Amino acid sequence: MTLKAKMTVDKEYKIGKIDDRIYGSFIEHLGRAVYEGIYEPDHPTADAQGFRQDVIELVKELKVPLVRYPGGNFLSGYNWEDGVGPVADRPRRLDLAWRTTETNQIGTNEFMDWAKKINAEVNMAVNLGTRGIDAARNLVEYCNHTSGSYWSDLRISHGYKDPHNIKTWCLGNEMDGPWQIGHKTATEYGRLAAETAKAMKWVDSSIELVACGSSNRHMPTFAEWEATVLDHTYDHVDYISLHTYYGNRDNDLGNYLAQSLDMDQFIYSVISTADYIKAKKRSKKTINLSFDEWNVWFHSNEADKKIEPWSIAPPQLEDIYTFEDALLVGSMLISMLKRADRVKIACLAQLVNVIAPIMTEKGGEAWKQSIFYPYMHASVFGRGEAIHAVVSSPKYDSKDFTDVPYLDTVVVHDEESEALTIFAVNRHQSESLLLECDFRSYEGYQVVEHIVLENADVKATNQVKRDNVVPHSNGTAKADQGALTAELSKLSWNVIRLAK
Ligand code: AHR
Repeated sequence: MTLKAKMTVDKEYKIGKIDDRIYGSFIEHLGRAVYEGIYEPDHPTADAQGFRQDVIELVKELKVPLVRYPGGNFLSGYNWEDGVGPVADRPRRLDLAWRTTETNQIGTNEFMDWAKKINAEVNMAVNLGTRGIDAARNLVEYCNHTSGSYWSDLRISHGYKDPHNIKTWCLGNEMDGPWQIGHKTATEYGRLAAETAKAMKWVDSSIELVACGSSNRHMPTFAEWEATVLDHTYDHVDYISLHTYYGNRDNDLGNYLAQSLDMDQFIYSVISTADYIKAKKRSKKTINLSFDEWNVWFHSNEADKKIEPWSIAPPQLEDIYTFEDALLVGSMLISMLKRADRVKIACLAQLVNVIAPIMTEKGGEAWKQSIFYPYMHASVFGRGEAIHAVVSSPKYDSKDFTDVPYLDTVVVHDEESEALTIFAVNRHQSESLLLECDFRSYEGYQVVEHIVLENADVKATNQVKRDNVVPHSNGTAKADQGALTAELSKLSWNVIRLAK
């Protein structure tokens, strides 16, 4: 029996303009993300500054528009002043978050240089764990003020005449988590974030600020945290953050692939909470969402317990991703695009070596994990306007979810380049789905390519020089006068590209 799913797409069903920053990523001073990841001066491909050009090339394939930096949990104990000025004078510090030693060979200026090389902006985070208003406003002055003040002139003396003009800033990281140095209650954090935001914007009124939301939807303080924090910060910030990581811990694939429904619910709840504060304040301003940490993270949990404390750049959080992980990452991207009206920033956590789409060998190769592909497809083909698809799909129940549609999908239209793209996951474990799509309002569009990521082995992984999980372009999608049909193979990620 062939399972059928139907969808209707109309050019009037606009969800909202997709902010390019939704395809952001994240580099933390953690494990081998910075050292041996993006920076390895002895590597054969290293440029004059010590950055690996093989890694830069892979990052460019992802078209990453924004990179969050420098943490993460690392942030809450970081003195940004340690990472600027002559490298030889920089202190080694204990990083209490990850129990490692930070050498500070790379800091703000070097990272800004690297971001330029990958054509990305930086989403800079200020430490609200051990530091506060003063360190934050000084960092904005150091980075964004032209000249003629102590901190801007210090930057110039460090060899950076032009200001970095960093636009997007995070006010701390996961301050609701007891694991954080300087963990705070919502009121403590809300007050500090509001006062820090004021001072930062007084230095540079053009910046945008992200307040910390909950570390995940299952935190005991979730929702109340967002309400309290926004009550204090509403007039001073622009976004509230969300973080989530999933994992197939019970080896229950149906339940695992349904976890993007948890993400849908998380997004919905944070929008509702932000809008509740908007109503309470009779405000005209709308707070948008920054999903600044999201991914699959669980494979490396056991290995990380064996890391020698205080080592330098040990292999931490080095999840090796399976094919099934790539399917969930695809669905998570779909979840965010479905709320592109409110999710304006998102950062795949992370980018290199640490729970990452790109892995490196010290002195050797850089290679692509399975999750590289859905992230790349969405970033490359998912620019424009998100379009709501009216979907009718067969459904299933799993341990934690009911009515999980086998078809997970969203559509993106780019008016300028006249490109229409359907992103779709078939969650069915044994059947293909016959997709019938009515898109007659898009006159003259034809299928250009149907990319498919599929694999007979859900646990298949890529390794150095062994690409077992790679997409192909032999999908069956065809269109005739506004009617599209496509067979979506069992357990597959699909990118159906149409153009005029
Ligand atoms: O991305 C890994 C870690 O996950 C980050 O440092 C922290 O913010 C989150 O808990």
